[in-house]
Amino acid sequence: MRNVKNIAIVGVGQMGKGIAQVCLMAGYNVILNDVQNTIIENAASYIENGLKKLEKKGQLHGELTAAYILEKLDTTTNLVDAVANADYIIEAIVEKVEIKQKVCKKALDNSPNHCVFASNTSSIRITDIAKTCSKSANVIGMHFFNPAPLMRLIEIIAGEQSSKEAINIGIEVGESLPCLRGDRYVPQVLKDRPGFIVNRVLAPGRIYSEYIYDLAHKQGIPWEQVDADITGPKEPMSRLVLADFVGRDVSFHTAEYYADTLSPDFAPGEFVRKQVAEGNLGAKTGRGFYDWSKGRPKPNLSKKAGIVNPMVYTAIGANEGCRVLEEGVCRSWKVIDEAILAGMNFPGPMKAATKEYRQMAKLLDKYSEKLKKQYLKPIELFKSGNFRRYE
Ligand SMILES: NC(=O)c1ccc[n+]([C@@H]2O[C@H](COP(=O)([O-])OP(=O)(O)OC[C@H]3O[C@@H](n4cnc5c(N)ncnc54)[C@H](O)[C@@H]3O)[C@@H](O)[C@H]2O)c1
Repeated sequence: MRNVKNIAIVGVGQMGKGIAQVCLMAGYNVILNDVQNTIIENAASYIENGLKKLEKKGQLHGELTAAYILEKLDTTTNLVDAVANADYIIEAIVEKVEIKQKVCKKALDNSPNHCVFASNTSSIRITDIAKTCSKSANVIGMHFFNPAPLMRLIEIIAGEQSSKEAINIGIEVGESLPCLRGDRYVPQVLKDRPGFIVNRVLAPGRIYSEYIYDLAHKQGIPWEQVDADITGPKEPMSRLVLADFVGRDVSFHTAEYYADTLSPDFAPGEFVRKQVAEGNLGAKTGRGFYDWSKGRPKPNLSKKAGIVNPMVYTAIGANEGCRVLEEGVCRSWKVIDEAILAGMNFPGPMKAATKEYRQMAKLLDKYSEKLKKQYLKPIELFKSGNFRRYE
């Protein structure tokens, strides 16, 4: 297998800059590429500050200094120059298929023949990104979780044309990248299906959340109380603050994407439609569920609304985990749980389901009727408990 030495990071916004930092820390020569110099300078100073902080805390590997690592960093706004000597390209540009296709084609046309193109897309099929390029065997998915230096999970995704060698190189690079919070977990996603493993298993929980938001809005229940219902005791950011932080438009588009690719039952609910129509998108517009005009809100979560049953989320996730197994996206329910823990910092639903699948299946029957969402019905592999054979 080829030895990877030079990595080009194309798109150095929120994700790309963190990915570049861990690639540098692993000892690779890294070149940053984006469309504007100011964005690249921003990313380079983020990386420099990050490395200096780690140096002060004694968290750089062995005798390494920030200055030594930074010598391996280069930058350019020219994509052709960025990839000319690359062994491996990580693409973290905007989530638009036509733009990703163009960048993929141009990058692979101008890089050495062995170079792997790894897309950090969170939803687009790798097969679609590779469609217009001449070396689709070299294209894979490499899905990091935010922020890349802290979250342990990297999903490596096989597109329909990806070569075994490209996948193996992806896994090897992924496993070589340090993580500041423990060991990397780098599972292979065997089928190019929407959401891969983690986002897919968590996706239909949105159907229940949308129902809760619509209900709370209709009944005038304060958002703090809904937030208290859905936020776990150890979570660093409450769920509705996080939803505002991510952006209500992002949730809206994600719901539309899953409605197109998985089931119309994912279609955005009434309340999120209203938020988007009124421009109340969350942190970036100053209002979402909460008012952000004076900075990040600090909701008082002492009183619960009592309208959420947390077991419903677990049951929905476990049922979706069974779809993931049935479709061959991965082969073990343990991989699903481990991936969710490594990518989201909370436990996955599968282990609980191995013991409680019968009660959970009944709950899903009840809620699929109540919410009028067929997609929530328990599938056979779940109801029968046969998913437990996929260890
Ligand atoms: N933000 C997350 O939590 C998250 C998590 C996992 C995966 N992702 C995925 O990572 C990718 C990037 O997301 P982000 O949140 O970092 O976005 P971002 O908007 O912060 O950064 C994207 C960067 O790409 C640059 N860019 C756009 N077109 C380009 C081009 N043709 N060539 C070079 N650079 C270009 C932009 O200037 C910008 O700096 C997306 O595919 C997204 O779905 C995001």
